[in-house]
Amino acid sequence: MVTDDIRAEVLELRAQLEDWNYRYYVLDDPGVPDVEYDRNMARLQDLEAQYPQLVTPDSPTQRVGAAPLDGFSTVRHEVPMLSLDNAFDAQGLVDFQRRVIDRLGTVDALIEYCCEPKLDGIAVSLVYRGGRLERGATRGDGSTGEDITANVRTIESIPLRLRGAGYPEVLEVRGEIYLPRAGFEALNATAREQGEKTFVNPRNAAAGSLRQLDPRITASRPLEFCCYGYGLVDGGSLPATQSAILEQMREWGQRINSDMRVVEGIEACEAYYEQLAVRRDALPYDIDGIVYKVNSLGLQERLGFVSRAPRWAIARKFPAQEEMTQLLDVEFQVGRTGAITPVARLEPVFVGGVTVSNATLHNADEIARLGLRIGDTVVVRRAGDVIPQVVSVVLEKRPADAREVSFPQSCPACGSAVEREESEAVLRCLGGLVCPAQLKAAIWHFAARRAMDIDGLGDKLVEQLVDAGLVKNVADIYSLGKEQLMGLERMGEKSADNLLAALQRSKSTTLPRFLFALGIREVGEATALGLARHFGSFEALASASESQLLEVEDVGPVVADHLRQFFDDQHSMAVVQALRSAGVHWDDIEVTPAQALPLAGQTWVVTGKLEAMGRNEAKAALQALGAKVAGSVSKNTDCVVAGPGAGSKLGKAQELGVEVIDEATFMLRLRDFGGGV
Ligand code: IVH
Repeated sequence: MVTDDIRAEVLELRAQLEDWNYRYYVLDDPGVPDVEYDRNMARLQDLEAQYPQLVTPDSPTQRVGAAPLDGFSTVRHEVPMLSLDNAFDAQGLVDFQRRVIDRLGTVDALIEYCCEPKLDGIAVSLVYRGGRLERGATRGDGSTGEDITANVRTIESIPLRLRGAGYPEVLEVRGEIYLPRAGFEALNATAREQGEKTFVNPRNAAAGSLRQLDPRITASRPLEFCCYGYGLVDGGSLPATQSAILEQMREWGQRINSDMRVVEGIEACEAYYEQLAVRRDALPYDIDGIVYKVNSLGLQERLGFVSRAPRWAIARKFPAQEEMTQLLDVEFQVGRTGAITPVARLEPVFVGGVTVSNATLHNADEIARLGLRIGDTVVVRRAGDVIPQVVSVVLEKRPADAREVSFPQSCPACGSAVEREESEAVLRCLGGLVCPAQLKAAIWHFAARRAMDIDGLGDKLVEQLVDAGLVKNVADIYSLGKEQLMGLERMGEKSADNLLAALQRSKSTTLPRFLFALGIREVGEATALGLARHFGSFEALASASESQLLEVEDVGPVVADHLRQFFDDQHSMAVVQALRSAGVHWDDIEVTPAQALPLAGQTWVVTGKLEAMGRNEAKAALQALGAKVAGSVSKNTDCVVAGPGAGSKLGKAQELGVEVIDEATFMLRLRDFGGGV
């Protein structure tokens, strides 16, 4: 028996969950922590399992649940889904405006345009009837597409029911389904780990995810939806401008782009383009241009269409993020830990705003997966600040004399034996610090600003010192004399004096910096800080057992193992001893119990791009100081660290009056808190 109370609770839970979803996805302002959402969802699932007669297709529990399909059926778009004309430069925009004005006859005022980032994803149509999501379909050829209802239902930013009131009986919402960059990188990282084929770009990954016959697979992909327009409207009406329609769509629960703006005149359109071009790399998703739409629907109607594109809209494209070029050779670089990485040498090509002539190939598996041969024509992608990648081979262009890539049997830098660890795809030189490539990298790391901060010990100098045999381990740099230095290329008396002074200064350091500088595998700045705070002294750390090491936050079995190997290695410890004898010193740290850590009880949020540290390092450093790091800003947030490109979280913090600091201030604070990294 379903009592009224139960029925009421189910309705209330649904309304509550929908509301939280709306706040999270549309307003970008989660009302409650995830656990609270999960608790309510679990309660609703329980009730629906107990009373199956209460289950409705638009319940938030029903996003996944449809059985795998045999194939997609075809649907007709009652209102065709058009495409856009492109403009590739500022002149293209001016020409567009000319055509608009010519057609409209004289216009007294500047024309108003709605400017929207052009998301690089898959166009979809969502039909709502009576406010309920009835059908989701791909664009297809514009007249007919594929029915992907079961898949779109799994995307949480797509409401299963419209909110509020006043929506037309039939409302076709149009927009783009896309995969944010972070989701794309994560998906490919997993594919790489499992030896599976990677996706070429987020757009292909989004398309592949939507084309799944099993909606559970789609549900596992972090797809998002953004509304940019409408199709069929029946039994109701929409506002009279594109921008007002989007605002209205937002009220009805649809997510729209927060960078949508209305501007007057084509020059303002170009200015908008320039502003977004600067921010393009920092956006969390790929955009391939800006779409400009004449804002007034009245004017749109007068302008009409030509073949498959409206005369009232145009896409101003950004420079491409993918280009073709030739693979000239594959070389092998030896890193600080001996890892040997294949690097593609490319015919220089302009892509994603820079000239690219090298790209990492990760490892042997990656080369095999790509089926790469030297001489091949390849597609190179550079999007955001991600390092350039070779994403595919253009097989049709393979020359007859293309060569297989052969991996070195010994270290290309020192000739030592190499090994391929079983669990790793990585080839590693076993030469240790005998290997000049590893030694050079170790010294660069040791001297880095965030490590021992030795000003003037640059790449070229380290090369010379190692090649001339003057430095055989990091401690040797402290016994360099002025005469020796002056014997080197491009080293005058003044530079030699400066370097000696910098070396002298660097001897006074902190324990976290010193630990980081040693370059122990997997011990980054944050881990070094955590270790220093936990053990307080080098001796306590060096004599810690594996289980004591595991007590440190962030230290897992792998890191603990690397640490023990380092401290058990006579050669490494002899270098540490030599450094101390040379005068390198630091103060021990008072060991602080967790609740006495300087940021204990505080919640911080890190957003935007951090240039010096990287977001993960920053988070780990905060955790080491006792702070909780949250993914979203609320009134309980104590401080937000915001780098360039910070978006809605920054806005939210400002709205709530939460303290916001930039990266430079953040670094100063870390130093003040004794996180002297
Ligand atoms: S409007 C009649 N607005 O670009 C106008 N399209 O090249 C039709 N796209 O198929 C589209 N962001 O997949 C429009 N803000 C935006 C868009 C957008 C991305 C895609 C869409 C469309 C393609 C046209």
